Amino acid sequence: MSDAKRLAAEKAIDHVEDGMIVGVGTGSTVAYFIDALGKIRDRIAGAVSSSEQSTAKLKALGIEVLELNSTGTLSLYVDGADECDGNKNLIKGGGAALTREKIIAEASRKFVCIIDPSKRVKVLGKFPLPVEVIPMARSLVAREILARTGGQPVWRDGVTTDNGNVVLDVHNLSIVDPPALERELNQIPGVVSVGLFARRKADVVIVGGEPPQVF
Ligand code: A5P
Repeated sequence: MSDAKRLAAEKAIDHVEDGMIVGVGTGSTVAYFIDALGKIRDRIAGAVSSSEQSTAKLKALGIEVLELNSTGTLSLYVDGADECDGNKNLIKGGGAALTREKIIAEASRKFVCIIDPSKRVKVLGKFPLPVEVIPMARSLVAREILARTGGQPVWRDGVTTDNGNVVLDVHNLSIVDPPALERELNQIPGVVSVGLFARRKADVVIVGGEPPQVF
């Protein structure tokens, strides 16, 4: 699988243009993308990072990490996903970086999603849906999610996000209308962000393989 991740990540370099500030996601597939970016670091102006983990790796390779507040709109965001359907809707947040990922995706003109073939699904939801929650609202949000969706929220015990919050993973969902579920869950007080990327989904998906598939 790591070969497929690497092949998808290396293909995404095709989208990097000279002088760009590149939005960079989080995870094991993105780690390969950062390695590839390191090889062309003199061609880019820097990166905006979605996590402490990616920031450390970018800096270690000599890539300048910039603040989104000072860069404005980005031309390109590259990130992985936990699941991807045929309409380029995604579940993300397996690495607990969903909120910053969502912010950078929103701030970017093009979102290129890099995945291995195991991430492709017909209907999202087999992978438990991550929801970042303000700590004091954990139980309230869990009850609301159960009542509104029938899904089973499980607290990702021991995990604190880069923003100081907690994560609920919602099991047993079959997400037939991703934008509607994203809207519904976003309305619950205490929800910081939902790991469903449907309103702002991927623009391009690269599935790693020989050769990579692009859709
Ligand atoms: C991080 O919070 C996630 O959104 C990742 O993008 C996702 O978990 C994919 O990770 P891998 O590339 O490690 O499979």
